[in-house]
Amino acid sequence: MSKALTTTFSEKLIAWHARSGRSGLPWQGNRDAYAVWVSEIMLQQTQVATVLERYPRFMKRFPTVKKLAAAQLDEVLAEWAGLGYYSRARNLHACAQQVMQEFAGQFPSDPILLEELKGIGRSTAGAIAAFAFHERAPILDANVKRILARLFSVEGALQDKVVNDHLWKLASKLLPSKPQDMPVYTQALMDFGATWCTARKPVCLSGEKKCPFEKDCQANLSNQVLSLPHKTVKAKSPEFDCDMLLMRSGNAILLQKRPSKAIWGGLWSLPESVWVAKSTPRKQAPSLKRLLVAALPDESPAVWLKVCKTVKAGPQIKHVFTHRRLWMQIWELNATKCLESENTHLKWVPLNQLGRYGLPQPIKILLQGLSLARGDDLKN
Ligand code: ADE
Repeated sequence: MSKALTTTFSEKLIAWHARSGRSGLPWQGNRDAYAVWVSEIMLQQTQVATVLERYPRFMKRFPTVKKLAAAQLDEVLAEWAGLGYYSRARNLHACAQQVMQEFAGQFPSDPILLEELKGIGRSTAGAIAAFAFHERAPILDANVKRILARLFSVEGALQDKVVNDHLWKLASKLLPSKPQDMPVYTQALMDFGATWCTARKPVCLSGEKKCPFEKDCQANLSNQVLSLPHKTVKAKSPEFDCDMLLMRSGNAILLQKRPSKAIWGGLWSLPESVWVAKSTPRKQAPSLKRLLVAALPDESPAVWLKVCKTVKAGPQIKHVFTHRRLWMQIWELNATKCLESENTHLKWVPLNQLGRYGLPQPIKILLQGLSLARGDDLKN
C-alpha cells in the first residue's frame, strides 16, 4: 500500500464529509451505545429513508436496553413489522437480554466483546465501538469493501477468505490516529460508499464532482472502476410452492404463529402447507380436505370440514427471500363459526385487531386489502 495514502486517507475523507457527507440524521452525534446499536441493526438491510421514519418510533417504544430486554418477543416483532429480515428483531431482543445478564445493562466498548453478542457481526461491532466509544475499530460492510477494492485494485471475489482478510488489514491501516476522529471517520466511510463511490454510478465517471481520491485510486488510474470489485456469479435461488389458508369467519381471520426458528420466525401468518420445490405447471387444485390436512396437520379435518364447506382459489403471491423464492397460493375459505382449537399457535383475530400482530409483509398487504374493503385500519 502506498505510504502516502495510509497517512492522508482519513484526513481527506473527513474533509470530504464536512463538505458532502450526510449530517443531521437522528442517530448521529449520539454516543449512547444502545441508541447506536439499534440504529446500526436497523440500517443493515433497510434504506435510510425508512429508518428515518421507524427508528424514532422504535426508540420511543423501547427507550432503554432494559425495556427492550423486558419486552415480550411478540411486541418487538410487531414493532419491527414491515422492516423485513426478522432475525434482526429476534437477535435485538436476545442481545438486549444478553447485555442485561452478562454486562449489567452496559454495552461493552471492546469490539471483540461486542462481536460475541447476538446479531452483531465484526463490521457492526466496529461501527458501534467507533460511534459510541471512539474505539479505533475498522468497519467493512459491502460499501467499504467496494471503496477499498477500487482504491487498492484488489482483485478476486469479496467472499474469498484471503481477499476478505486482506481488506480487513487495509481497513485497519487506514484508520485515523486520533480516537476522537473515529465517529466522523466511520460515518464518512459509510456515506462515501453510499453516495459517491457507488456500485453503478461512481462520481469519478460522471465528471460532475471531483473525487478526493482520483489521484490515489488504482482503479481510477487504470480505468477499472466499474470492473472492481470483481462480481461473483450468483446461482438463481430455488423456488418453492405452498398453499395458504385464508379462512374467514365473519370479521375474523384464522392466524397461525410460525415456529421461532423458521423463516418469518415468531410472526403470525396464515396456516400453510409444507413448502415443496416448484413444479411447473402446478398440479390440479387440491380438494378442501387435502388443504386442511396439509395446512392444519395437528387438527382433525372432519371437525373443520363441518364448519368449512367450500373453498375458492385466491391470488398467487410471489415473495423473494435472500436465498429462495416462494409462491404462495391463497385458498379462501368461509367458516360458519370461529372453531376453537387446543393448538395455542392458532388464533382467530378480528380484522380490526390485526395491527397488534407481527405479520410477514406480503401477508400484511393481503390482509390489509381485506381490512380496507371493510374500512378497518391495520395500523397499530
Ligand atoms: N448504514 C449502516 N450504518 C449506517 C449509518 N450509521 N449511517 C448511514 N447508513 C448506514
